[in-house]
Amino acid sequence: MTPIDCFRRIRRLDLGHFPSPVQDLPRLREHLAAKPRLWIKRDDWSGAGFGGNKVRKLEYYLSKALRQGYDTVLTCGAETSNHCRATASLAARCGLRCHLILNPSAQSGTPASLLLDHLYGAEIHRVADRTQRAPVMSEISAGLRANGHRPMEIPLGASTPLGALGFMHAISELNFHPAAIIHATSSGGTQAGLVAGLALFGFSDTRVIGISADDPAREVEETVRTIVGGIELEINAPACSLLGGIHVDDRFTGPGYGIPSRESDEALKLLARLEGIILDPVYTAKAFAGLLALLSDGTLNNARDVLFWHTGGQMALFSAVGTC
Ligand SMILES: Cc1ncc(COP(=O)(O)O)c(C=O)c1O
Repeated sequence: MTPIDCFRRIRRLDLGHFPSPVQDLPRLREHLAAKPRLWIKRDDWSGAGFGGNKVRKLEYYLSKALRQGYDTVLTCGAETSNHCRATASLAARCGLRCHLILNPSAQSGTPASLLLDHLYGAEIHRVADRTQRAPVMSEISAGLRANGHRPMEIPLGASTPLGALGFMHAISELNFHPAAIIHATSSGGTQAGLVAGLALFGFSDTRVIGISADDPAREVEETVRTIVGGIELEINAPACSLLGGIHVDDRFTGPGYGIPSRESDEALKLLARLEGIILDPVYTAKAFAGLLALLSDGTLNNARDVLFWHTGGQMALFSAVGTC
């Protein structure tokens, strides 16, 4: 069986609004006098849990959970986590219990995301910082198993070979061939799926540039490489055949994880005012600031079409009214 056949045989649930639309950005292009045509892929409209990139990954995870008889899913992140919110929403839709292990976020007030996690019926476990998330998740999982439940742990961001398959599927729905894809990267699963998907479907001259939301480029690149290696095993592809180029740019992380920067604020306002499209303040706005810099320093001058992948997250612009 070819790797493409193996990939197509892995089952996923149809939980999001896909294919997500691709829109052009003519007013932005004119404003920047940009040479390439500029496009945006609207994964912020993916549907569940107010959208975003995690829905694609969860289509694979929750398919596995239901087929293998799990009754509970657990995952972790910050209180503002888009991944946790999407998991809580889709777990509710699939009739699974959901436990979230959350550390405090940099956002002031009660994050709207946290309110939604509660509304979706997730059980929230708070930990003091990010180092405690994985061990506490394992402890809770062990406790659930001891009480007769069947818990499935979904690692941070669902950034594993299984989750990343969602972004390979996303490449299979692209009906044009951009020279470059720019997107926000953090736990690496989105980028790994895009890189592996482009290689698998024969678009290996498309350059993917992940703009880091927090970690140093080398670390994220290493994580992406490891996930791509896992995908190769999963779909029986020769080692290194799906690696492509892995580029992470960490010049736009600003003051750190979950904290907007001056450049990200400006990027968010620019896209909103020129195209009526809202980014989130701490992932996609940083990535968009990266895109603007790459356009102005000439890096993308030879590209005919550049695609910005909107990975969602706008809920971080809002605080909850009242308490959760
Ligand atoms: C809105 C948004 N964009 C991008 C990312 C990065 O995706 P990944 O963790 O797959 O690198 C995240 C991760 O949480 C996110 O919430």
